[in-house]
Amino acid sequence: MTNLGYAKVSNNNINFFVNMEKQRFSNIKTEEATKRIARDFASRLKKGDIVLLEGNLGAGKTFFVKEAVKSFAVDEAASPTFSIVNEYDGNVKIYHFDFYRIKKERELYDIGIDEYLSDEEAITFIEWAELFPNALPEYSYLVKILLLKNGLREITISKKD
Ligand SMILES: Nc1ncnc2c1ncn2[C@@H]1O[C@H](COP(=O)(O)OP(=O)(O)O)[C@@H](O)[C@H]1O
Ligand SMILES: [Mg+2]
Repeated sequence: MTNLGYAKVSNNNINFFVNMEKQRFSNIKTEEATKRIARDFASRLKKGDIVLLEGNLGAGKTFFVKEAVKSFAVDEAASPTFSIVNEYDGNVKIYHFDFYRIKKERELYDIGIDEYLSDEEAITFIEWAELFPNALPEYSYLVKILLLKNGLREITISKKD
């Protein structure tokens, strides 16, 4: 990530803040704006990365992942709410989890989460990861999506070393 200190930059009416570890995009009005952020984010990802997505129902976590994985030639991404995990074979292997319907941590171990998370050949996205923090290894990025009452969204991307 570019080190600009802490600068406010404006681009297409989206304000974003950049420092070494965190980007914040606010005032997001359109799906297209979210898509641009997702595409730009995807260009920084590499094999072995684990991306956690936080945000209420309908905030746009699945929407963000769908757009991000297009960068890896995956066009059929869908919400894994019921399947827990979807696997996509793009030009990189992608695991897309959603912990929303999981009731017990045990269920995650039963589907072999540790094997998924230790696959250095894949990029992993996890929606609702905050529900089971104990089941998670170190992550690479945390993407927080906020849907405000006025309909605008804010996306904060933090990088973990
Ligand atoms: N700027 C935007 N960014 C993301 N999603 C948006 C935006 N504007 C409208 N939406 C809509 O909001 C919905 C978000 O749903 P989804 O991604 O399934 O949410 P989540 O996975 O967080 O529950 C989608 O139907 C999407 O079309
Ligand atoms: Mg979702």
